[in-house]
Amino acid sequence: MVRILGLGAYAPEGVLRNDDFTRFMDTDDEWITSRSGIKSRRIAPANVLTSDLALEASRMALDRAGLSPRDLDMIIVATSSPDTLTPSTACVLSAKLGAGRIPCFDISAACPGFLYALEVARGLLRTGSYRYILIVGVESGTKFIDWHDRGTAVLFGDGAGAAVLTEDESRYGVLATYLKGDGRLGDLLKIEVGTAYPPGSWGVRMKGREVFRNAIVQMGEAAVEVLKRAGMTAEDIDWLVPHQANLRIIEATRERLNLPKEKVFVNIHRYGNTSAASIPLALNDMLEENLLREGQNVLAVSFGAGFTWASAVIRWG
Ligand code: UT7
Repeated sequence: MVRILGLGAYAPEGVLRNDDFTRFMDTDDEWITSRSGIKSRRIAPANVLTSDLALEASRMALDRAGLSPRDLDMIIVATSSPDTLTPSTACVLSAKLGAGRIPCFDISAACPGFLYALEVARGLLRTGSYRYILIVGVESGTKFIDWHDRGTAVLFGDGAGAAVLTEDESRYGVLATYLKGDGRLGDLLKIEVGTAYPPGSWGVRMKGREVFRNAIVQMGEAAVEVLKRAGMTAEDIDWLVPHQANLRIIEATRERLNLPKEKVFVNIHRYGNTSAASIPLALNDMLEENLLREGQNVLAVSFGAGFTWASAVIRWG
């Protein structure tokens, strides 16, 4: 089975608390907390790039896997906030790690990017052509934020999570995956950077209420469908690890599965929405809080711009 050999994460040190926004924006802690569940988020300074966050998380993942960068056969980075459009952040990361002449490329799949990368890597590992693949979900998306837009500025944070994957005879690993997308709804959530937008007009734009409605439906669908693929019911799940975009969306997903609160991991209050970094950052917090046990079934679910949505059932170990 394809499994996680080592996991790592990193969040920049700079903390922006809800109260900090009240100095330059018409908002308050009560609104942000009650509407989203967010209390603070981490912000990378201008000179700390997406690849720098990825580097810290990757080194930790390699360390825990007992491998060196030279052991890697491929690097896949999922991000919506690359250092540059080209070279890919995966190539920049490869050079910073000293991984040598291995294939490296980025995936643009927004918040479920880490789960998309997991699926791509899983397929490639199963061909037998690669032994160790490093996947990273990373964002320094606050660099694109319009700090005058209170509907988005308070929501996002920076961070990184990484996993070294391999395929072996183990009974632990990825039991099932589910990936979906619908490009027709792309206008509802965008990072407006690219050939469609003139220089100087950058920004994150979101129709929050519509995204919220879609997120609840698709997160639920992804959770239910991947359980079917795994031949499981919600009762078999030890941990729901949802994308951390909004506590009310997390709560709706929990209710859809009829899971008790104790089985849902939440760290949105600490990091806000870190998009592609959200799932691995959550898994790493769980690891460091000693919550994950060998043999536990973990259901990871995510939804984001595109729209894209995805899920995976992983037997931990
Ligand atoms: O990761 C990818 C997926 N992303 C998501 O899943 C995010 C989905 N959306 C959401 O999480 C929620 O829609 C938000 C948290 C963004 C907004 O919550 P909401 O309950 O949907 O609020 P709303 O957008 O309907 O806005 C309600 C009111 C508006 O005022 P009016 O028009 O009713 O007078 C907003 O202007 O709240 C106002 N508002 C704010 N007030 C204080 C919007 N942002 C703020 C703010 N502080 N920061």
